[in-house]
Amino acid sequence: MGDKNTEIKKDITDLFDRVSSVFDDNGPRFFKYFGEELVKFADIKYGEKVLDVASGKGASLFLSAKKVGEKGNVIGIDISKGMVDKTNLEIKHKCIENAQSIVMDAENLDFASEYFNHVLCGFGVFFFPDYKIAFKEFMRVLKHGGKFSFTTFLRKKDENFIWLDELVEEYLPEYEEDCGYEETVEFDTEEGLYKILKESNFKNIKIEKEEKIFIYKDEQEWWDKLYTHGYVTILDAIPLDKIEEFKLKVFEKLKVLKKENGIENSMYVLYAKGEK
Ligand SMILES: C[S@@+](CC[C@H](N)C(=O)[O-])C[C@H]1O[C@@H](n2cnc3c(N)ncnc32)[C@H](O)[C@@H]1O
Repeated sequence: MGDKNTEIKKDITDLFDRVSSVFDDNGPRFFKYFGEELVKFADIKYGEKVLDVASGKGASLFLSAKKVGEKGNVIGIDISKGMVDKTNLEIKHKCIENAQSIVMDAENLDFASEYFNHVLCGFGVFFFPDYKIAFKEFMRVLKHGGKFSFTTFLRKKDENFIWLDELVEEYLPEYEEDCGYEETVEFDTEEGLYKILKESNFKNIKIEKEEKIFIYKDEQEWWDKLYTHGYVTILDAIPLDKIEEFKLKVFEKLKVLKKENGIENSMYVLYAKGEK
């Protein structure tokens, strides 16, 4: 099991190192949008200490740093050095003094117990091979009364885009996403999130959901966005001699969906929080 988890983490690290230079670029920056909404949902206050787990390129880190001000402190951790380096560059570029990003595994936190007021994790929990170990670590580093707030994708699809799954199925009939976590865990339902927070001993649990429409200016922008996040693993799995044909079919479908303002694509997200 240990070896399997190490392998899963290595693949995840390689994936995010690879996309780190373009992560959330090209078109609507939805990670930035949801990351900032997560900070508002967590209700971060002036002077607090925040740990942003799986912080990526700082979707939640930068607004957190603003909220906690000069008396507070924000530490982002990520398993991908590419992501960490990019975030630290932006921190330096913006002359931010109360935030930093460090390479670290969510399942093995190198921090003292009861240190943080908040632990955040935007779209990260479903990558952890053993989320229970990570949640135990979050509980450990939180102060008494501190809060763990995170986001996942809700199990609901934009009905206008069901054809994409069908198309992927057509080109990759054998493809199965293996996140490594126990299959019984439902990170994509409100009940599932409530259950895992409760079982991890968090109190005052709150779950909210949001539907948000993002608009892409054209087919190319929509396609390019797929290469800026985890979806790239699916595109990579399509045989090289088939990818152009797949792309053509995607463009044909997008053309039909395109309106005067562009291509509208809904995203469904769950926000969850629990208190120590
Ligand atoms: C989809 S990105 C989200 C990044 C950021 N929170 C955001 O909302 O833009 C997921 C991030 O989780 C990180 N990650 C995955 N497994 C991790 C682990 N075990 N420990 C720390 N970070 C991890 C990846 O490297 C990646 O940067």
